[in-house]
Amino acid sequence: MTLQADPERIRTHIECLAKYNATPGYGITRMTFSEQDREARAYLLKEMKSLELSIQVDGAGNIRARMEGCDPKKAPVMTGSHIDTVFHGGKYDGAAGVVSALEAMRLIRDAEIIPDRPLELVIFAEEEGPNFGSPLAGSKAMIGLYTAERLKKLVNEKGKSMYEAAQDAGFYPDRLIEEVKRPGDISAMIEVHVEQSLVLDSEGISLGIVSGIAGMRWAKVTIRGESNHAGATPMRYRRDAMAGAAELVSAVESAAGEFSNTAVATAGKLICKPNVPNVIPHTVELYLDVRDVKREGMLRVLDRIKREAERICKKRNLELDIDIQGSTEPTECSDRIIDSLKKAATGRGIKYLEMTSGALHDTAVLASITDIGMLFVPSIKGRSHVPEEETAVEDIAKAAEVLTDTILQLSSC
Ligand code: GLV
Ligand code: MN
Ligand code: MN
Repeated sequence: MTLQADPERIRTHIECLAKYNATPGYGITRMTFSEQDREARAYLLKEMKSLELSIQVDGAGNIRARMEGCDPKKAPVMTGSHIDTVFHGGKYDGAAGVVSALEAMRLIRDAEIIPDRPLELVIFAEEEGPNFGSPLAGSKAMIGLYTAERLKKLVNEKGKSMYEAAQDAGFYPDRLIEEVKRPGDISAMIEVHVEQSLVLDSEGISLGIVSGIAGMRWAKVTIRGESNHAGATPMRYRRDAMAGAAELVSAVESAAGEFSNTAVATAGKLICKPNVPNVIPHTVELYLDVRDVKREGMLRVLDRIKREAERICKKRNLELDIDIQGSTEPTECSDRIIDSLKKAATGRGIKYLEMTSGALHDTAVLASITDIGMLFVPSIKGRSHVPEEETAVEDIAKAAEVLTDTILQLSSC
């Protein structure tokens, strides 16, 4: 039996989720445990209940909705993504994967198929990171990398920790320790996601099968100098933190290309103090994001940036502090899952491209406990993390069909 996804149902879910948004008219902003997150969760819980899935939410706010299999003792096949967004992001990042997983569950339920292994739809909390300062916090908590104590240290701009916010949302972070997923607990994890780059759209191909996911380091660089009068202080007497930071930003850009043709490095956030036009800045906090699918490349770029920062600060008589605030390792997808995805795509006559992911994904975190795979759908004009982010629902429907065939196949082994 060939199960057919419904692009209009997918469109409806994407558009409904997009309504739970703190910045209407300026892209989508849905922070984990915000009012909009609560509403999006309520919408999805209702949908999941209509499919008679049994629902559990762990202490970090990760939702797992289970379709029972013929053998409930077997480890489940898991699929899903996240519903939090960056500030002023788009409506497809994360949502496309959640909605594809929901569609797969609906197709299987409507066809009255009982999978051999249980199937679980997962919605990870706090994938993006700008909220509590650490991307992939939900999936890291799911596998025990982040404990309740660690969640107490992840603090948002209002001074509230992820631990407190989870409690306020009605979850129990202290129970995380009993809920940790270990090797053997999940049989496979597959995530559908928007590509977030130009390749599929430029090549006119509807589906990407991911072979590996880049690793990342997030660093907070603090540069301290001395404030003084912007008019009265001659240039040679200054210790200008902003001028040092400016030099470093350009060193970050050059470092990316020096050791690896796949590495990228970004200075995406800068806080300048006192941020006044006629005062020389005394402190700049610069936030860096360095990634590569090759670990060696990522570490060499980071090392070059550190050495450049030291050189610049020494030359300018500035103080320097570098704090690595987040890290994930480059991850390979499992051959078993890649083969299964390829067979499913071929079986449907859907052309695919094998590719790597420069963006982070919770699925990579789960690679330490299970076999993983990812499907990409084209991002129109390659835009993502911006309000203009767009993907054709027909492409999401194709991915949902390949996902359905794959999870059914994986559930039977
Ligand atoms: C998350 O989307 C990331 O790759 O930064
Ligand atoms: Mn995402
Ligand atoms: Mn994202």
